[in-house]
Amino acid sequence: MSDTRFKVSPGGQLTGRLRVPGDKSISHRSIMLGSLADGVTEVSGFLEGADSLATLQAFRAMGVTINGPANGHVTIQGVGLHGLQAPAQALDLGNSGTSMRLMSGLLAGQSFDVTLSGDASLSTRPMQRVVDPLSRMGAHIRTTDTGTAPLVIRGGAALHGIDYVMPMASAQVKSCLLLAGLYADGTTCVTEPAPTRDHTERMLSGMGYPLHSEAGRVCLQGGQRLNAIAIDVPADISSAAFFLVGASIAPGSDLVLEHVGMNPTRTGVLDILQQMGAAIDVTNRREVGGEPVADLHVRSTELRGIEIDPALVPLAIDEFPAVFIAAACAGGRTVLSGAGELRVKESDRIQVMADGLQQLGIEASPTPDGMIIEGGRLTAGRIDSHGDHRIAMAFAMAGLRAQGEIEISDCDNVSTSFPGFVEVAAQAGLSIVSGSP
Ligand code: S3P
Repeated sequence: MSDTRFKVSPGGQLTGRLRVPGDKSISHRSIMLGSLADGVTEVSGFLEGADSLATLQAFRAMGVTINGPANGHVTIQGVGLHGLQAPAQALDLGNSGTSMRLMSGLLAGQSFDVTLSGDASLSTRPMQRVVDPLSRMGAHIRTTDTGTAPLVIRGGAALHGIDYVMPMASAQVKSCLLLAGLYADGTTCVTEPAPTRDHTERMLSGMGYPLHSEAGRVCLQGGQRLNAIAIDVPADISSAAFFLVGASIAPGSDLVLEHVGMNPTRTGVLDILQQMGAAIDVTNRREVGGEPVADLHVRSTELRGIEIDPALVPLAIDEFPAVFIAAACAGGRTVLSGAGELRVKESDRIQVMADGLQQLGIEASPTPDGMIIEGGRLTAGRIDSHGDHRIAMAFAMAGLRAQGEIEISDCDNVSTSFPGFVEVAAQAGLSIVSGSP
C-alpha cells in the first residue's frame, strides 16, 4: 500500500455549495438488508468508499447479484433471508468495523461456515463485545486469543432470542444482535445505556419487518420477511462535520452543505458546535426514505471552549477528531469526558489527536475517557494519522488556521469513508495536495 500524504498550506476559507458522499452507516445497511430482502432494492446516493464496497463485495461473494455502484446507484437482487451461499474464501472486510460487527450477527444464523478477516487496524479492534452476546444466542464463533479478528463462524447453529443489556452505547453491537435475531427462535431484545444511531431499526421497519421499540429497548421476533424498497442515502453528517468545522474556524467562510442526513441519533456535532458559538443554519428540512435530511449553511465565527455534555457523546461519536480541531481554535478550554470508546476506533483517537495537537503547539491533555484542550495558535507541523481516515481529514482542516504547512502521513484510508476528499476540499477553498513521499 502507498503512503499517501496530504500537504496543506496555511490560510484560505471555505465557500460555495457542496454535497459530501453518502452516509457510511446507511450504505452498509442498504447492502446487507437489500441482500436479505425479497425483491429488488434500488439504492441511490450509495457511498463508493472502501468500507461500504467491502460489504458489497462480501455479499457478492455470497452469491448476491449486485449491479453498480455507478454514480451512487446500486441495484441489489435480494435473495431472501435464507438465500445466501457459502463464499469460496474468507471475507476480507478491510478497515471496516461496521462490516465485521454487523455481519458477524447476520452470518451467525446461516447454514454455512464463514471467516471474517480485516486489515491490521481492524484486527486489533475488540470483537468480544459481539461474540459474547452472540454466543449466548447459541452462535459458534472463534476469535484470536485476544478476542480479535479473524472471526471464524460455524454455520448451522440454532439461534435463540435473548434479552441483552449492552454494557456500552454501541450501534454496531445493537445492530449485530438485531440481525442475528432475524434468524433466532423467539424474541431478541437489546437495551442500550444511551441512544445510538438507529439506521438498522429504521431500515428494517421500512422493509416491513415488525419491530418494537420503547425507551432505549428494541425487540424483534425471528423468521419474518423483508420487502425490497428504494433507499435514498443522504450525505454523511460525519463527512460534513469536517467542513462544518473548517468553515467555522476559517475567517470569511460561507458554505452550504447539501442533503445532509439529520437523523437525531447523529446530530450531536451540531449541538456541540452550536454551543461553541458556531453559526450553522439548518434549512430545507425534509424526509427521504425514512431518514430526515437538511441543508446546512455555515459561516465563520469566533468559537469558545465548552464542557461537552457526556450525553452528546454517542450522538457525535465519529465527529470528535473534527470537534477537537474546533476546540484547538476556540477561545478558552474545552473538556470532553465519557468518551472512552474513542480509544477503540480505527485508531486510539484520544491519544492520536492529542499527539497531533501537541505537534501543532496546542495544549492538549488526554484523559482515560476524553481530553482537555486549551484553545491557541496552531503552528506548522507533521502529523501521523495512524491510518485513521477521520484523523487525517480533521488535521487537513486545521491547515485553515495554521501558521505554516501541515503535512499528514498515512492518509490512504481517507478513501474508506470519503473518496474524493482532497478534490472536494480543494474546490471549496482548502489549499491541499495529496501525494506519495
Ligand atoms: C457505526 C456505529 C459506531 C460508529 C461507526 C459506525 C454503525 O460504532 O463509530 O463509525 O454504523 O453502526 P460503535 O457501535 O462501535 O459505537
